[in-house]
Amino acid sequence: MSGFSNKVIYQIYPKSFMDSDGDGFGDLKGVTKKLDYLAYLGVDYLWLTPFFVSPQRDNGYDVEDYYNIDPRFGTMEDVENLIAEAKKHGMGVMFDMVFNHTSTAHEWFQKALQGDKEYQDFYYFVDGTEDKIPTNWISKFGGPAWKYVPDLKKWYLHLFDETQADLNWENEKVREELKKVIHFWKDKGVEGFRFDVVNLISKPEVFEDDMIGDGRRFYTDGRHVHEFLKELVADTQMESMVTVGEMSSTTLENCIRYSNPEEKELSMCFNFHHLKIDYKGGDKWEVMDPDIRQLNDLMKHWQEGMQKANGWNAVFWCNHDQPRIVSRLGDEHKYWKESAKMLATSIHMMRGTPYVYQGEEIGMTNAGYSNIEEYKDVESLNYYEIMLDQGKTKEEALKIVGLRSRDNGRTPMQWTDGENAGFSQGTPWIGVNHNSQCINVESQLGDKDSILEYYRRLIALRKEKAVIADGSISFLEESAAEVMAYTRTLGDEELVVFANYSDREVVLNTNIPENSYLLLLDSYTDETSIINRNQEGCLVLRPYESQVWEKVVRN
Ligand code: NOJ
Repeated sequence: MSGFSNKVIYQIYPKSFMDSDGDGFGDLKGVTKKLDYLAYLGVDYLWLTPFFVSPQRDNGYDVEDYYNIDPRFGTMEDVENLIAEAKKHGMGVMFDMVFNHTSTAHEWFQKALQGDKEYQDFYYFVDGTEDKIPTNWISKFGGPAWKYVPDLKKWYLHLFDETQADLNWENEKVREELKKVIHFWKDKGVEGFRFDVVNLISKPEVFEDDMIGDGRRFYTDGRHVHEFLKELVADTQMESMVTVGEMSSTTLENCIRYSNPEEKELSMCFNFHHLKIDYKGGDKWEVMDPDIRQLNDLMKHWQEGMQKANGWNAVFWCNHDQPRIVSRLGDEHKYWKESAKMLATSIHMMRGTPYVYQGEEIGMTNAGYSNIEEYKDVESLNYYEIMLDQGKTKEEALKIVGLRSRDNGRTPMQWTDGENAGFSQGTPWIGVNHNSQCINVESQLGDKDSILEYYRRLIALRKEKAVIADGSISFLEESAAEVMAYTRTLGDEELVVFANYSDREVVLNTNIPENSYLLLLDSYTDETSIINRNQEGCLVLRPYESQVWEKVVRN
């Protein structure tokens, strides 16, 4: 059981959430303006992606100064005010700590470039000549993971963009500096932290070529990662705070260690395996239909596996790096509402702490841009070029970017059906989705059949029913591959959850006796929610229908 089992966390990408001053760029004051809305939704914590001083090459994940606010987002006063106001609204604020790397504009890196050996040791600088790259590793954003600095006759490591240099956590001074950052923000009232790609912080002792992959096996869940996390948490007294690690290409065994309370590392982990079920051959830039059978297997593996060893999952579909889930696993058109609710149900009934990413709660869809110039994300633009170099046509590459781009999750939040979706009075930094007139907060607030109100209900239910927060989970074998089914149990309480991930009707093989269970939730609206059974008495789910059945407890 986790101290955060009945909590729900809402993720805000400030740049695209609400622009308070009309410069087209979302800001901290904009977030503060929307606190009433967030409190209405019922969430407990707000995780804000980075807004520290940054060249914004990777939208703030390239931090130049951990202690100051990028003026585009506001001021220190704005952030202090936001923390205080959120608290008054009953919500804690979580910051996003990018500790695997800094921007090359960071003072430490700049000193390193000027030849300061102490600061060169803050990073991975390796002596060499330009014609001999230290290893053949590939950066997560495409291209080599090393960059040469001719003046120093050294290469430096960057697992992401070349302006994001990896920090050397083996160096105690680095670890001490990062602890200071945590203390600074804790003192300001920050209640929790999300740690960016934190399972990549421990690099190998020797750098060697990867003959079978892109290098990740040498630095993922690396040799000292658990030690480093324990030290960071202990020395900054973070044990009781809400902390979540973003774990890239991780394993169940490691996530158990990261999140089991006895280990005193983090409260929970994000893993991404379930979001690769439509990557052909495991390659993000090769598309295929989602494999729902695989999704089921992965969910079972992670849910039951973490439960068995007292680990804790952060459960989620969306974030600022992912395409919109309704476009990906649901249906943007005919079954938009039903599929969005079905997807929400699958996640919110699980064992773990659910995350809602801005706009998910109103069923926002992929960006739908028709032109490569509309995309802003460094990864999308790099891979567009890489795909052209590999021989794809512009149309093919654009289609893939349309499905995969991180910008799909970064279009401005759709508040109203008005200009710029009510996000900004200026020109938004990135294009507003063309469907903002139909999909927006204003039109869904108070409409009891809306996706928004359904999310509210799911969030409230986690607090009302201990079985959702603390029950055990067990996956059921359904014969239809498109159905996800599981039970939650706590003492006498029991829930049975079914979700149909297809656009056709499916017959269930799990029997739900009429008199012993009541229908608690259905992704179809109340008026149309009829319980279908076939002649043998088996339940039949409509396209994208989800149902949650609650066992009647008789005293
Ligand atoms: C993961 C973040 O979520 C992503 O947006 C960022 O580009 C990389 N880490 C690098 O910091």
